[in-house]
Amino acid sequence: MDKWTGVIAIDGPAGAGKSTVARRVAAALDVSYLDTGALYRALAYYLDSRAIPPQENDLLKTALGDVSVEIDGQKVYLNGDDVSSLIRTPAVDKIASLYSALPSVREKLLNLQREQAQKGGLVADGRDMGTVVFPHAQVKIFLTASAEIRAKRRYDELSARGVTVDYEKLLNEIRARDDADAKRAIAPLRQAEDANLVDSSDMSIEEVVGAIVEKARGSVHA
Ligand code: DC
Repeated sequence: MDKWTGVIAIDGPAGAGKSTVARRVAAALDVSYLDTGALYRALAYYLDSRAIPPQENDLLKTALGDVSVEIDGQKVYLNGDDVSSLIRTPAVDKIASLYSALPSVREKLLNLQREQAQKGGLVADGRDMGTVVFPHAQVKIFLTASAEIRAKRRYDELSARGVTVDYEKLLNEIRARDDADAKRAIAPLRQAEDANLVDSSDMSIEEVVGAIVEKARGSVHA
């Protein structure tokens, strides 16, 4: 079978399992994986650490002009510094949602995301992969799960890393983020018309990965 050379766009709310699934699908097809949430997290981390408020203004535009964001596999760099682990905290969860609603933040990351597909096959996950960044993706998946299941997964993930969190608080934060991501004016989280809906609430990761790989192999690019 020829190597997959197209784009698989995976969108969905926080905690639906997108990054785990996307990484495994990429490995199964031997193509690159792009975690676009990491890019938004990195920019939010940068802007927040410089006390730039999440509002469109000249301060924000200047700060965005001053920063370079790079991604290399699982690593994200801000002006050459590896921030990959600094951006995985509940505090960054919150601010990333605020900054990612700003048009100039999204504009800054658009080409960087598209460039990743020029190197060959790609599995990209985020909120607007199938709708805005890769509207012509060969396979589009909208991966979701109930808010309770997503909060439990996030709780387990953070606990495993030694981060102490409260489940109820996480659940409320997930609901608030869903709301913010779905209601923002620019590139809101929504299922593309031609996306396949996958509800992972009662599915194992293997089942979800298997379903997406099968879809990719069955498409014209396999
Ligand atoms: O997937 P994540 O939780 O790492 O994403 C972090 C934040 O970035 C989240 O609030 C949604 C936002 N995001 C976005 O707006 N567009 C993307 N393509 C990816 C993430």
